[in-house]
Amino acid sequence: MNMKKNTLTLCFTSLYIVFAAYSQPKNKPDNVPNQTSPVESSNQEKCNWCGTSEAPENVSWRTIIPPKGELGEKLIISGTVYLPDGKTPAKDIIVYIHHTNTEGIYPKKGDEKRNGKYHGYLRGWMKTDSKGKYEFETIRPAPYHSHGGEPAHIHYNIQGPNYPEYWLTGIWFADDPRVTDKYIKSVKRSGGFSNVITLTKDENDNLRGQRNIILEKFK
Ligand SMILES: [Fe+2]
Repeated sequence: MNMKKNTLTLCFTSLYIVFAAYSQPKNKPDNVPNQTSPVESSNQEKCNWCGTSEAPENVSWRTIIPPKGELGEKLIISGTVYLPDGKTPAKDIIVYIHHTNTEGIYPKKGDEKRNGKYHGYLRGWMKTDSKGKYEFETIRPAPYHSHGGEPAHIHYNIQGPNYPEYWLTGIWFADDPRVTDKYIKSVKRSGGFSNVITLTKDENDNLRGQRNIILEKFK
């Protein structure tokens, strides 16, 4: 009898381990084909959610993402990246972001390279300056409709010396009615501060928001 019980327990434990191993993390980037690794990937060539290794050589602390004529409300997001102590600014950190357009899609021109084929052309790279600062100018993204009410978002990837590339839960906007308790509870990696950003209008009528980040290490 005891042996039967032990066998059953073993079976259920094995099933659980197999299930856990193949489960995807919540809030992983959601617009990409199946990941090649459950969480992080060390193989940049096969990593569909990655992007930091595609940064141009002349990457700056600030970038402008949309091509001229792109529709949408102008949005400027800035922030400081900190070392894990939460106080010391982290320089030379690559911040890679991508997002949807005003129709909630990742728009493509057709000539995209590497992960631009999935992420579209509304993407960009920054490298934090000596004060850990980064900033990008873009248009406010719209939510898409095929993901059960997911809030509008901007995907974030981080990478730096001694920090293999990892993703953060994307930026959401505090005035987006889709940012419900259900989503707030599902945040996997806020990056040390809330990922729900309150936007304000500056003197030029641009939307502005801030996202600071505390570095973490993932493998
Ligand atoms: Fe997405």
